[in-house]
Amino acid sequence: MTTQFSVADIELSLSRYPANQVSNLQAWDAADEHLIKHLKEIEQPKANTAVVNDSFGALCTALTSSEADWPIWVETDAKTSQLGTLHNFSANGLSYTNLAWLNSRELPPKCIALVLMKLPKNLNYFVHQLQRLSQSLAPDTPVYIGAKTKAINKTLLETITKHLGPATASLAWKKTRVITCIADGKPRALPKEVSWPVKEFNLTISNLSNVFAANKLDIGARIMLDNLPEGQFDTIVDLGCGNGILGLRAKQCYPNAQVHFVDDSEMAITSAKQNWQANKLDDPEQPQPQGHFHWDDCLTHLGDEVKPDLVLCNPPFHQGEAITDHIAWQMFLDAYHRLRPGGMLQVVGNRHLGYHVKLKRIFKNCTTAAANGKFVILRAIKSPQGADK
Ligand SMILES: C[S@@+](CC[C@H](N)C(=O)[O-])C[C@H]1O[C@@H](n2cnc3c(N)ncnc32)[C@H](O)[C@@H]1O
Repeated sequence: MTTQFSVADIELSLSRYPANQVSNLQAWDAADEHLIKHLKEIEQPKANTAVVNDSFGALCTALTSSEADWPIWVETDAKTSQLGTLHNFSANGLSYTNLAWLNSRELPPKCIALVLMKLPKNLNYFVHQLQRLSQSLAPDTPVYIGAKTKAINKTLLETITKHLGPATASLAWKKTRVITCIADGKPRALPKEVSWPVKEFNLTISNLSNVFAANKLDIGARIMLDNLPEGQFDTIVDLGCGNGILGLRAKQCYPNAQVHFVDDSEMAITSAKQNWQANKLDDPEQPQPQGHFHWDDCLTHLGDEVKPDLVLCNPPFHQGEAITDHIAWQMFLDAYHRLRPGGMLQVVGNRHLGYHVKLKRIFKNCTTAAANGKFVILRAIKSPQGADK
């Protein structure tokens, strides 16, 4: 795997986050290179810059390596992207005192004079980002959006024009283009929240724009909900919680439980928290709230005092554009290490992903609790001795 980023006289060593992941994926793509090359060609001077959707900090490190005090507001929804950016700054001997962080719901400050953006996979989220930018950017602010040529078409340019200002695409370079949009200074309304009922469980779910399964229950989540384990559990982790549906239902089934929701997406954690509150899942008889919300990469920063006896997991099989099973691996390993002896990890997955092989390797056991043509529900138990063998 290449780690040497070399564009427009800028040389950096960049890795994805976590750097030791079992994947062969690069930390940047040709659209990042194209954006930096474009800035060099137009001789862009240092300016208050918003960098949006920078996967692992290639854009921020490149700007900072050209001018150490380039003022950058970094907008990201992914914890792995924030951690990866910080890691790549350190790895290249750069100080990150020029960075300010924005989550994917905050409005960028009015002082922004330049925006660098990567086109995200989720177009609803992209529209939401454009609408938020429209609320902050002064007329004539340039917004450069890097994307693969195959993702750019007339409809996309019209969408950008509609939600932010007129947009045109550059010539192709390494199968990418840079779209130039000039903000028209007219603020657009933000999207309304989407919510829908899951009638059979008496739950109402809402999703922010970058949350998995936009306005319906995922099929994998549905099978998981129909096959939650019997018994009592007192500390439950919903790992990769999305809108929190698994943890919300778990609280209904195991009413005395503390439920920890964990997701890489800040919008997912916010949606899970809103759904917990909207469905009134805290037991008012108990002295403290029982829902806990963690924006994190798997269980990396979960407090040592949290020792779950049940982890529920519907793992992702991609990171951004890249198809990968390294996150599922990390989720299973983290669950194994965090579970108390005798605790259970229950996973749902597409049958062909072969998660049972991974679970057997880690836990030395795995049973199939349910299956249909496409999905399997797998259970693995941490040995009561807690031994690693
Ligand atoms: C297949 S979705 C499952 C969502 C929800 N649990 C459900 O069943 O509908 C996988 C979730 O994992 C999250 N995720 C991806 N990478 C992660 C990571 N490194 N750490 C924590 N969560 C992650 C995604 O943001 C997404 O919400």
